[in-house]
Amino acid sequence: MFLGKMTRAGIGMIAALGLSTSIATAQESVEVLHWWTAGGEAKALQVLKKDLESQGVSWNDMPVAGGGGEQAMTVLRARVTSGNAPTAVQMLGFDIKDWAGEDILANLDELAAKEGWDDVVPDALKDFSKHDGHWIAAPVNVHSTNWVWANKAIFDELGINQPTDWNELIAALDKIKAAGYTAVAHGGQAWQDATIFDAVVMATGGPDFYQASMIDTDPDALGSDTMKTVFDRMAQLRGYVDDNFSGRDWNLATAMVINKEAGVQFMGDWAKGEFLNAGKVPDTDFLCFRFPGTQDAVTFNSDQFVMFKVGEDRQDAQMKLASAVMSPTFQSAFNVVKGSVPARTDVPNDAFDACGKKGMAELAAANKKGTLFGSMAHGHSVPAGVKNAMYDVITAHFNGEYDSATAVEELVNAVESAQ
Ligand code: GAL
Repeated sequence: MFLGKMTRAGIGMIAALGLSTSIATAQESVEVLHWWTAGGEAKALQVLKKDLESQGVSWNDMPVAGGGGEQAMTVLRARVTSGNAPTAVQMLGFDIKDWAGEDILANLDELAAKEGWDDVVPDALKDFSKHDGHWIAAPVNVHSTNWVWANKAIFDELGINQPTDWNELIAALDKIKAAGYTAVAHGGQAWQDATIFDAVVMATGGPDFYQASMIDTDPDALGSDTMKTVFDRMAQLRGYVDDNFSGRDWNLATAMVINKEAGVQFMGDWAKGEFLNAGKVPDTDFLCFRFPGTQDAVTFNSDQFVMFKVGEDRQDAQMKLASAVMSPTFQSAFNVVKGSVPARTDVPNDAFDACGKKGMAELAAANKKGTLFGSMAHGHSVPAGVKNAMYDVITAHFNGEYDSATAVEELVNAVESAQ
């Protein structure tokens, strides 16, 4: 009670008097590195902060903006090099594997066994949460990345039905553009270009082609005519973005759809968090549907909190964090706000809205059917080096540096030299 009410100034004064140690360390804390800086993301994270605070654990926030986590990984490297790793770090797929090789991660096996994580976390996530059979990370969610977020008023006004294939998509975008709106809200950052690319690969070549090109990096698939069509389509989509797209943050692009300045955004379901945060309702204010031509498939990523080795004094708080993340109540409460779906298979869908229920059902169906694939753009299909090589080519082409035929050649070469 006394500590809870004490101000920072009060603690400072006690420290100045040399009384700090026993009092200041009585409060447990975690330091978490993440890139959840947009409104909806911050709101979702608040669910976790509050949960921990109720257990007496305070939260030291270490935000590093930038979807896909590239910037966050750079900051992490500097922290680890200086021997000062955070308690937990938000991480995606293959980045986890990279860090797991370095013998600096905590072991969560005891907690995982006690709480039965093995029985409820899907294998596709466990591939990343476990290293050599040991739990090193707690998965927070499953996002899927092949979504379209549309302004319903614009669709209604122009009599547009949800497009189901490429030609219908182009017809819809033409209508939106002709009516004076920005057709596609987009932020020209490599990971955002790559998010659209994932969807276009899936829509153009189907699941087998996605597997061959984005997961197996088969040079024949990467260098194929189908890949040339993918790049042609990317160039076509480039014609529907506004003049100021370069460098724009993804949430500002979402805001363009929310504010009826733009018709659609191609983005993962974290975009839904922004709509909800702005008080918008699915099927009333906005529509969520699969990128046309990818209705039967899901490309996914999963944010995981990777736990680093910390001193004994910080281990209890770290385990409380891991346990809080894995609790079914948290997985529902957090993902309802975040736009994602639970990373456990035993969480009911009752609290989720229409898009969330659809997301959960489609994820389960794709998993059963064998059409659930890791997102390249979000670090779940290839190691970071290969992903970054793909990013470079996709972005250079999107910005007109390469024509489609050159982009195909560059892609084959870039992937080969990154492997
Ligand atoms: C993704 C991440 C999502 C979301 C998004 C934009 O990489 O998995 O949780 O935060 O970036 O920041």
